[in-house]
Amino acid sequence: MIRIISENFVMKWFLLLSFVVAVVAEEAGELPSAEPCDEEACKLPECRCSSTNIPGGLAPRDTPQFVSVTFDDGVNVLNMETYRDVIFNRRNSNGCSAGTTFYVSHEYTNYQLINELYNRGYEIALHSISHRVPQSWWATASLEELRQEIGEQKGQIAHFANIPANQIKGVRLPFLQLSGNTSFQMMKEFDLVYDHSWPTASHRDPGLWPYTLHHESIQECFMPPCPTASIPGPWVLPMITWADPMGFPCAMVDACANFPNREDENAWFAFIMQNFERHYFGNRAPFGFYVHEGYIRGYPAVERAFVRFLDIINNVYDVFMVNAVDIIEWMKNPVPVNEYRSRPCKTVPLTMCTARTCGPLVGPHNEMSYLIPTCNVCPANYPWVGNPLGR
Ligand SMILES: *[C@@H]1O[C@H](CO)[C@@H](O)[C@H](O)[C@H]1NC(C)=O
Ligand SMILES: [Zn+2]
Repeated sequence: MIRIISENFVMKWFLLLSFVVAVVAEEAGELPSAEPCDEEACKLPECRCSSTNIPGGLAPRDTPQFVSVTFDDGVNVLNMETYRDVIFNRRNSNGCSAGTTFYVSHEYTNYQLINELYNRGYEIALHSISHRVPQSWWATASLEELRQEIGEQKGQIAHFANIPANQIKGVRLPFLQLSGNTSFQMMKEFDLVYDHSWPTASHRDPGLWPYTLHHESIQECFMPPCPTASIPGPWVLPMITWADPMGFPCAMVDACANFPNREDENAWFAFIMQNFERHYFGNRAPFGFYVHEGYIRGYPAVERAFVRFLDIINNVYDVFMVNAVDIIEWMKNPVPVNEYRSRPCKTVPLTMCTARTCGPLVGPHNEMSYLIPTCNVCPANYPWVGNPLGR
């Protein structure tokens, strides 16, 4: 009798305890693990398996070759000169403005220039407020920390550059350091559409097309931790690495371990073309030219080679230099080159900048004084992590 009661008692406690554990896990935001992808269950426009198959079953010759040029970090009067010289006023062969994406970090950013870049049709995207070191901080950052660093940067840029928050859709993590599931959870909360931080060398040829995280990714984990949960919503736009002249992978052009002589324009032109042709004559997965402006400014022969490359692709029938987010838009509804070309050019809602230079304001993190060129009323305090609008 006693034994029966006590078994019953233990059973009840066991059930109660299991229930409590499940509720606590749920509240801690524990995510379901991603399962291998099933092409039948995962369909566009919401879902895509990670794969090197061309979307929509298109043949390579019918597939637009997208080129994504990106610049990272603060935007200021110095690097704007290079953008004016190299990027501005370019058109693709269909007559539409050529795109470029700027992954902006807050420190030393001139928000009046962000307003100008936006109004010229370029994409403004997130690269964190502080861009803090060390890199390892980003690997273990919590959900709340990433909300403050990246999620809240969306409102910060929209406010100070006076651009629509809903036009800010992309993320590149500082140092390309992923944080497992966490940054993608954060992106979901802030309606961010795609991440552009995850390099691949194993899926370079044929190249890995963008995909969603409903299911398990086939992409190798370059710098752990990588996401392994099922996180429906955000897209991964893989950074397909270049092969340097010794065959080593580089995600950013300025981070290739081996590179042609930086005084040799022709060698650099050949280097860029070789990497481009792997995509163009392959499965046409998006080709990236990912760089920091200082590298282009610092090496005039590299700049000339880059300009020659852009001049060529801007005149090729089936190559399109676009904002990174435009690639994701195309993924959701992949149409062949002919149909893509015949579409009207996309426009953005224009906004004004009432220019004000704010400050000097003292950074709470380093006691330094900053002047901030903005398109909005001046903040009372230096805008920083946890206080993005400087209230
Ligand atoms: C991501 O989520 C999955 C599923 O909940 C979990 O197994 C994995 O450990 C998480 N990754 C990290 C780095 O926390
Ligand atoms: Zn950076």
